[in-house]
Amino acid sequence: MNIQQVIDDISADVRARLPEMAGEVASYIPALAEVEGEQFAMAVHTVDGQSYVSGDSEQNFSIQSVSKVLTLTLALQRYGDTLWQRVGKEPSGTAFNSLTQLEFEQGIPRNPFINAGAIVTCDALYSRLSAPTHHMLATVRQLSGNPRININQRVSRSEYQHRHRNAAMAYLMASFNNFENEVEEVLKVYFGFCAIEMNCAELARTFSYLANRGVDVASKRRILAAKQNSQLNSLLFTSGLYDAAGDFAYRVGMPGKSGVGGAIIGVVPGKFTVAVWSPKLNEYGNSSAGIYALEQFADRLKLQLF
Ligand code: DON
Repeated sequence: MNIQQVIDDISADVRARLPEMAGEVASYIPALAEVEGEQFAMAVHTVDGQSYVSGDSEQNFSIQSVSKVLTLTLALQRYGDTLWQRVGKEPSGTAFNSLTQLEFEQGIPRNPFINAGAIVTCDALYSRLSAPTHHMLATVRQLSGNPRININQRVSRSEYQHRHRNAAMAYLMASFNNFENEVEEVLKVYFGFCAIEMNCAELARTFSYLANRGVDVASKRRILAAKQNSQLNSLLFTSGLYDAAGDFAYRVGMPGKSGVGGAIIGVVPGKFTVAVWSPKLNEYGNSSAGIYALEQFADRLKLQLF
């Protein structure tokens, strides 16, 4: 099957449906509310280094929660399994920004992809790196192949100004002694990671290691041990789309991670990483067109893992 033809067909189909497709651009971060909703891009990066792209492929966007995969990757490199003393591995069944379980469960977030889990993972990273933001940018620049990748400071500042919920989670974790550094400093790092910008082809390439047993396709550099990479994909399958992870598994059938900027990555182990971007979000904070596109893609190429 011709991958370029498939993603071009899906792009044309999505573009025709976008005006009627349900969803709203994220508005709780004012700088994200300004993004034009009716945009769509899709890209595939194969384990043998081929890259395919369709739609608004030049457009940069904020990767938001997709950055949590990188945060977890950098933390697993440094902590291995000891990281799981501070964050769980279970689906939460609650929204990405929910606070409720955190109190019942003594300040240990359910998984590293909900906000509380990503913030505590950031805190862990902050403890082991003297310049976490510099290190993250160096990693992303190398993985994406674009040395100019950067943080959108306006988005990052806007998130910090509207940080109340995330700050509440971080302080609650601190009250349970599950925080090691100054909360406000860790939040700034977390928001910076969320506000990293890139285009869809760069996003697919950045996560090529997830489909390639932990080895970055372009540089052949090992990012994670094969077993850790497999475990990370399992967690993406069960929790990458929060309280919609079950629906995503049912419809798309592969590990995935979404962000409120409208991006979603999907992983087909041994074949490729696929990335989609479209900013209108459904009620779970996931891109409506992105999920539709990935479902079509998985159907056309018969990619469901089970
Ligand atoms: O912390 C936040 O609310 C955002 N920076 C990231 C949330 C996000 O992308 C959730 N994903 N669907």
